[in-house]
Amino acid sequence: MEDKNEWGSNLSFILAMIGSAVGLGNIWRYPYVLYSNGGGAFYIPYIVAILVMGIPFLILEYGVGYNFKSSFAKAIRKINPKFEYLGWFLPVAVFMIMIYYSAIMGWDAIYIVLSFFKGWGADPNAFFATTLLQSSDSYTTLTSFIPIIAIAMLVGWFIIWFISHRDLEEGLGKISKVLVPLLFVIMVLIVGFSLTLPGASVGLAQLFNPDWSLLGHFEIWMAAFGQIVFSLSLGMSIAFTYASYTKDDADLITNTISIALANSLFENFAALGVFSILGYMSVQSGTAVADLVTQGTGLVFIVYPTVFNVIGQWAYVLGPLFFITVYLAGLTSILSTVEPLSFSIQNKFGFTRNRTMTILCIVGALISMIYATAYGGSLLGFVDTFINQIALLFGVIVECIVFAWVFKAERLVDFLNSRSKTIKLGKWWLVIVKYVLPIFISIVWIGGMIDVVNNSSIDQLNFTIVSAALLLVASLVFTMRPAKNEEWDEIEERVEN
Ligand code: PFF
Repeated sequence: MEDKNEWGSNLSFILAMIGSAVGLGNIWRYPYVLYSNGGGAFYIPYIVAILVMGIPFLILEYGVGYNFKSSFAKAIRKINPKFEYLGWFLPVAVFMIMIYYSAIMGWDAIYIVLSFFKGWGADPNAFFATTLLQSSDSYTTLTSFIPIIAIAMLVGWFIIWFISHRDLEEGLGKISKVLVPLLFVIMVLIVGFSLTLPGASVGLAQLFNPDWSLLGHFEIWMAAFGQIVFSLSLGMSIAFTYASYTKDDADLITNTISIALANSLFENFAALGVFSILGYMSVQSGTAVADLVTQGTGLVFIVYPTVFNVIGQWAYVLGPLFFITVYLAGLTSILSTVEPLSFSIQNKFGFTRNRTMTILCIVGALISMIYATAYGGSLLGFVDTFINQIALLFGVIVECIVFAWVFKAERLVDFLNSRSKTIKLGKWWLVIVKYVLPIFISIVWIGGMIDVVNNSSIDQLNFTIVSAALLLVASLVFTMRPAKNEEWDEIEERVEN
């Protein structure tokens, strides 16, 4: 069973990991985060966050994953059987991301089709919210089903299943080698074109115009750390799982640096494109850039179609390219969100990869149908906030402590250094992973909790409680079910003590 879960080459590992990192967060989240947190000045906390957290943490997660060459749940159990619950908590939380990511991809798939004929009409805002999503903020509309969204989502689930149920290298490995380079190429085309638009410089000036005074504000540091956790998919058991699939000779330190660089390059590139286009639009419409910027769904499904409406013939090239890029970025990320849970189930219950993926895709597709309702958009926002600001960050803090303190990060230093062709780890790394990271991420977590509690409606709080209950119960069920695989407690370690 295990050999079906191994990368064919180091390149497959790196590209799949970049595919996981480069996702919707890079395209729709980062440009706005950069803009609203001091523009050019944001680069200081951003670079600090990459150097102090992103790279050191990723090295730790890779190192431990590589050492165990087994699933997250199995390895956590080996570190201490009492922690098995954590071993399921993170993979289940990441699987919950998968379920709502599939809805965003479904919307995007519809926009790919619409972009060929500007099918969103003259008022993209009304089209998105009212015609397509039939958005409602009353949970009674959970029963009003929207078939077109459901169909688009099911197509996505089929593609995901088609790639994931194969052996790792045959499916995810091969597809990453095609899609990830393609994603970069299309992005270069879009950004190249955007930079030539009249008014691009207006947008870029707005974006980079540094507001140094913000550097003293706690929020921009929090935003930078939050962005890096999300964007690099840190501490989510994905990096762990991907590293456990590597062969025996991986240079994990150098890989980490390549992945972090590629991810940052992509998101900063995306920011150039987004703001050139906003600058162009601002000049065309006479609206200030500040009034156009938004993030998330608003940016992708409202601002962009509005732009395509005013740029004439080019829209028929740029529009499809843009929505296809978003789809590919989403696809390579969503494929990573099923791996930790799938591998853990394979290890504990002895199912094959094929069978596990088939079951998870069916279950995921069925649950995801609640997002194909008129309440879906609101629900998605609540679940996203809960998972990202509360559940995952909590898991990340616990994971950091378990890996750095209980497993003991010291064990990895000599081994990682012996393979590294670039930097070598020293005492500084241990200080970061044992002290700086748990403290920093805890601060970000508390800030996020306060934000959620202060800014939530009653409905949001209720649905947050329901999501939390589901996550806690599902993790408990996986922990309590007896193992069916005799090898569940047999585990090899690749790094000597
Ligand atoms: N890193 C992805 C992005 O930037 O869009 C998002 C992501 C993927 C977050 C997978 C979490 C996750 F488990």
